[in-house]
Amino acid sequence: MRFVKTNDGSVTAYNEEHHDHYHSLSGAMEEAFEKHVHPLGLRDGMHILDFCFGLGYNSIAACSEASNLRITGLEIDEEIVAAIARMPVPPQLDAAYAPFRHLATTRSATDTKNNRITLLLGDARKTVLHLPPLSFDRVYFDAFAPQKQPELWTVEVFAAVWSTMKPGGLLSTYSCAKWVRANMEAVGFEVRDGPRIGRRSPATIAEKGVQEITE
Ligand SMILES: C[S@@+](CC[C@H](N)C(=O)[O-])C[C@H]1O[C@@H](n2cnc3c(N)ncnc32)[C@H](O)[C@@H]1O
Repeated sequence: MRFVKTNDGSVTAYNEEHHDHYHSLSGAMEEAFEKHVHPLGLRDGMHILDFCFGLGYNSIAACSEASNLRITGLEIDEEIVAAIARMPVPPQLDAAYAPFRHLATTRSATDTKNNRITLLLGDARKTVLHLPPLSFDRVYFDAFAPQKQPELWTVEVFAAVWSTMKPGGLLSTYSCAKWVRANMEAVGFEVRDGPRIGRRSPATIAEKGVQEITE
């Protein structure tokens, strides 16, 4: 794994196995705020599923803007979680990032605003099946690119994520691949364009409609 500075000054990592960066090179922290946290909206006390937690940027961005959040992070790679301990972050986020630095050993952390992060290590395709249904207001879906890791963008995975979400819940992801959106729609998500940040194509926002209450 090597670290790479992105255009907003924040640092991301490069994964040699998947030949992919953990974030957009146009700005790693910018991506967390502008593709995930801001487009979905955030309120104090929300429950968030950070699907493919990595360095935790999406969760750190959420924690910097709200309190009493309950965040569940799913991640398979202990090495990337351990890297959080030595990750440089922009000075304005340093204090907010501090509680995350020990997640590799503690697996859970609570910050000074009572945001609680719980990390579940393992294959998210399996871990997600054990999460309580109808629990999450927001899902930050951040697997490696669909063409590099298609097994994480399947109907089965989206159906499992759907089950964990509250009616009216929202999911964000950077991909707008047609087949990815089709898989989301196949399980009932209403799909729309997310923001265009750092590239011409839009991100995706998927909504679990409030009328869908049968589980
Ligand atoms: C694009 S990166 C996520 C970036 C992350 N949101 C961040 O802020 O650093 C994709 C992540 O998915 C993880 N991953 C890959 N396959 C996985 C699986 N089957 N289950 C859980 N996590 C997985 C990788 O280890 C990597 O950390």
